[in-house]
Amino acid sequence: MRRGKGDDPAIAAAVAIAVLCVASAVLLANGAAEREELTTQLSNGFTAAHAAGAAVPFEPVLYAPSSAFALGFLRVGAASLDLAVVHLPSSFPVWRATPARLGDWSSPATLTFDDGSLVLTGHDDGVLWQAVDTVGDVVVLLDSSNLVVRRHEKTVPEWESFRHPSDTLVLGQNFTRSSPPLVSANRRFSLRLGKTYMALHMEFYGGRTTPTYWRHTALEAQPEDGTEPPVYGRLDARGFFGLYLEGGGGDQRVDVLSFDTFVQNLTGAFRRMTLDDDGNLRAYYWASGSKAWTSDYRAISERCELPTPCGAYGLCVPGKAECQCLDDNSTSAPAAADAPSCHAEETADLCAGSGQQLGFDVVRRKRVSVAYKEELPFETNRTAEECEAACAGNCSCWGAVHSGASGYCYLIDFPVETLVYEADDRKVGYFKVRKPTPASSTGMSPGVAAATAALSLVLVGLAMAGACIGYQIRKRRKRRRAGMEQELVGGMYKDLNSMDSSNNSFRA
Ligand SMILES: *[C@@H]1O[C@H](CO)[C@@H](O)[C@H](O)[C@H]1NC(C)=O
Ligand SMILES: *[C@@H]1O[C@H](CO)[C@@H](O)[C@H](O)[C@H]1NC(C)=O
Ligand SMILES: *[C@@H]1O[C@H](CO)[C@@H](O)[C@H](O)[C@H]1NC(C)=O
Ligand SMILES: *[C@@H]1O[C@H](CO)[C@@H](O)[C@H](O)[C@H]1NC(C)=O
Ligand SMILES: *[C@@H]1O[C@H](CO)[C@@H](O)[C@H](O)[C@H]1NC(C)=O
Repeated sequence: MRRGKGDDPAIAAAVAIAVLCVASAVLLANGAAEREELTTQLSNGFTAAHAAGAAVPFEPVLYAPSSAFALGFLRVGAASLDLAVVHLPSSFPVWRATPARLGDWSSPATLTFDDGSLVLTGHDDGVLWQAVDTVGDVVVLLDSSNLVVRRHEKTVPEWESFRHPSDTLVLGQNFTRSSPPLVSANRRFSLRLGKTYMALHMEFYGGRTTPTYWRHTALEAQPEDGTEPPVYGRLDARGFFGLYLEGGGGDQRVDVLSFDTFVQNLTGAFRRMTLDDDGNLRAYYWASGSKAWTSDYRAISERCELPTPCGAYGLCVPGKAECQCLDDNSTSAPAAADAPSCHAEETADLCAGSGQQLGFDVVRRKRVSVAYKEELPFETNRTAEECEAACAGNCSCWGAVHSGASGYCYLIDFPVETLVYEADDRKVGYFKVRKPTPASSTGMSPGVAAATAALSLVLVGLAMAGACIGYQIRKRRKRRRAGMEQELVGGMYKDLNSMDSSNNSFRA
């Protein structure tokens, strides 16, 4: 249960490391790019193969004309494979195919464009991903990073990655109500559009329960006007995220979320907005010559206002860089990304059919509140006892927070995540904790197992990163010493070099 989620920080660490690794590899790749004609268009009959266990974490197969972006095989985490559009200067994947089942980096895979359809196939010949319902003549990667499948004679694309975002929006990309939600890389959070608002959600039970933890309503939209079209959002080069009314040709802007750089007239920067793995929505920019992304906007500014800064059943104390557990007064270590949470993450509710409820223990705690309580269902004029009772008997309810002063009773109808400390004795919480099943009481506890798994993954990731970076530094030193490109032929450089060339083994 906890295990999958527990790996997330480790996976995040591994991804970060992989990105570092790509970053250094890309420097070398760019060297190769200068000498080779880059593939900027795929025609019917195209095939590219991923060699099992390739040493580089990103294998480009198609470039944007500016060479700022490339489409290729991306290693995700320690050993998974995905198709991605990568911003080459930063090695950041601005788009990922994110199939339900990721490929396996240590096995072969192919990307084909045949019969007008773009398909990623795994080693067992199983289709991992495809641009569905699409028939086109060519595939191109635009300078905006939009991956497009289109007919020769048509300007409107048959398929485009801009309409299938993963965790990131880029400049000029329209995010509409018909777009799938933006989903964080760890798949725990999503950004969705309502008719007049945008909102951040937690994803529980495989997406069947998606409570809101942040909402922004378009200032000038009129929710009560039934004829008003819905809003859509777009990142603007001037440094804001605009909300506009759909249709009607002209862009009728109804709100802006302005970034810190809005007043600076920062021209020529590439911008992205990403739903990060901590559940925060942030904007970043990359100016020419940048060494790192700079963030100039975040939807949630306080750590304790995030949905899960201290994990399941954690307690976040504002102004303190540490977490507590709801059922333990002791202070735990600072909330590191890989710190185990107080209890296992839940993947199912407590309902056992025909109104029965599975066994649970009860935790009560004073001085607690929920950061996003205005998004929770509530009852008014309740005593603390009534509030508890409303939750206790309902198998889909995991907790209730009573605010003594106002008589408000907030019900948590999704697994308990982080609560916030509030110095008010009348704010009391009631929480259910699933009773451990006898089977899981043998061996390591889920928390310990998760922590162990996370730690070992991090260590493996660090070792890999060290090896990779070390290797590339040695390569580069060698290159500088020799001052001759011939010196570089072999190893990683050669791999990249051969991938970049348009007439190589990647073509069928
Ligand atoms: C986004 O929407 C605007 C207004 O409808 C349109 O002019 C523009 O072409 C769209 N951009 C893309 C990339 O589809
Ligand atoms: C912003 O930059 C553009 C181009 O560099 C320039 O023409 C314009 O005057 C600048 N605007 C302000 C307000 O500085
Ligand atoms: C936590 O502290 C409160 C009062 O500060 C006390 O009533 C409660 O018993 C303590 N709980 C535990 C588990 O130590
Ligand atoms: C609140 O509840 C009490 C008793 O349950 C009742 O007498 C009172 O009328 C209620 N007040 C409101 C505003 O509903
Ligand atoms: C249980 O809680 C859910 C979610 O809050 C609610 O929709 C449902 O009506 C409740 N069921 C009962 C029997 O009160």
